[in-house]
Amino acid sequence: MTDSRTRVLLADTPGDGPAVAARAPGRVNLIGEHTDYNGLPVLPIAIDRDVLVVARRRSDDTVELSNADPAFPPRRYVLRGEIPPFPPGDWGNYHKAAAVGLRTVLGGERSLPGGSFRAHGAIPVAAGLSSSSALTVACGLAHLALADVERPRLELADLFARAERYVGTLGGGMDQAATLLAEAGHALHIDFFPLRTRPVPVPARAGFVVAHSLELAEKSGRVRGLYNQRVVECRLACALLARRTGVPATRLGDFPDRTALLASLARLLPEDEVLAEALPDLLGVTPEELRASLVGGEALAAPGRFTLRRRVRHVLGEAERVAAAEQALRHGDLGALGELMNESHRSCAEDYEVSTPALDQLAALARTHGALGARLTGAGFGGAIVALVEREGVAALIAALDRHFYAARGARSELRLAVEPGGGAVVKRLGGAT
Ligand code: GLA
Repeated sequence: MTDSRTRVLLADTPGDGPAVAARAPGRVNLIGEHTDYNGLPVLPIAIDRDVLVVARRRSDDTVELSNADPAFPPRRYVLRGEIPPFPPGDWGNYHKAAAVGLRTVLGGERSLPGGSFRAHGAIPVAAGLSSSSALTVACGLAHLALADVERPRLELADLFARAERYVGTLGGGMDQAATLLAEAGHALHIDFFPLRTRPVPVPARAGFVVAHSLELAEKSGRVRGLYNQRVVECRLACALLARRTGVPATRLGDFPDRTALLASLARLLPEDEVLAEALPDLLGVTPEELRASLVGGEALAAPGRFTLRRRVRHVLGEAERVAAAEQALRHGDLGALGELMNESHRSCAEDYEVSTPALDQLAALARTHGALGARLTGAGFGGAIVALVEREGVAALIAALDRHFYAARGARSELRLAVEPGGGAVVKRLGGAT
C-alpha cells in the first residue's frame, strides 16, 4: 500500500522506472547530551515526524534532488570523482554526505547509480530534532535501494554518522542510530565505540511535549563552530586527564572508573579557561603535534580559549544520569526521570553552556505547568526543549506554553508538539515492501 504522501512525491519524481521510498524519523533525546562523541551513552526516542524520500534510478551518473518545500531549491550533481560540497548550509550537502559515505564502503566511484530524488520533510528544521540526519539517512537508504544493496542497520548507523561529518560538524552517532534503530513505544539506549543499542520500554502514561525556543539551531550554520568547540574542549580535557592519570584514554568514555574521576576533577583539571598558547606545555606536545593529533585547526584558532573542568563534569555526570534514567523508565518511575531531566538541563546550562535564556525560560515554564521534568534537547544553542508530563497533562501543558511563551511572540503552532516514541526508518520498493 502506498500512502498519499508517497503518491504525491512519486508523481513529481522524474522518470518512469521502478521507484523506492525511504522514510527516516526525527529524534528527541530524552537525556545524554553531548555524551555520544565522548564514547558515552545517550537515550533518545525516535518521533512520529519524518523525512520521506522517493527515488527513481537514472541511466547516467547524475543525481537530481528536489524538495516539496520550495524553501529548498532543486540541486543536481554528478557521481564522478571527488564530490565537492555545495556552499555551507545547503540542503543538498546531506544527500552528498550520504552518497560519498556509501561510495567509500561499496567499492568506489561506480558503485552508486544516478537517480532522481524527491524529499518531503515533516520534522521542524533547526529545532534540535535531527531533521538533517533524517534527511541524510532517508537519502542514503533510498540510494542503497536503487543500487539493490542491503546492509545491516548497525553498520549503516556507523557509516552515516561518519558520512555526515562531510557537512563540517564533528557530530557523534546518536542521531543516525536513533533514526535507523529505534522501536515504537521504546526509547533507545545507545552505546558507542562500538555502537550497541537496546530498546527501553516507555511507560504508556508518559507524554512528551517538544517546544521550540524560536531560536534556530542550524547544525551546518551558526551552531557548527559552537558545537565543534565543545568537541575540541572534551578532546583536550581527555588528553590532559590521560597525561595526569597515566590512563591511555582517547575519549572520556575510555576511563574505567569514571565515578572516581569525577570526584578528582578539581585536582586534575584547571578551573579557569586555558589559552591556546598554553596547551602544548600543558599537554607535553609541540604545537604541530597538537594540531595534528587532536583536531583540525579551525576550532583551535577561534576563540582560542578552552573550558575544561566544567565540560568534563557535565559529560561524566550526564553519563551517570543516563544510566539512572534507563532504570527509572524500566521501573515506570516518571518522577525520577523528570528530576534527572531537570538536573541534565541545569548541567547543560551551567557546566556545558549550551542553553539560552529562551530555552531556560521554556523549561521553567513547563515545570510550573505540570511537567515532571524539562530540558533542552539536541545540541542546544537554540532549538527546542522536551518536557515529560503525565499523558493526560499534555494538552494543558501545551495551552500554558501558548499562553505564557508563544502568544506574545506571535508564533505558529507547529513549533510546539506532542510526540510519541516511534519506530525507526523504513524502506519500500514501491509496489512491494522490503
Ligand atoms: C547533535 C549531534 C549529536 C549529539 C548532540 C548533542 O545533535 O548530531 O551527535 O552530539 O548534538 O547531544
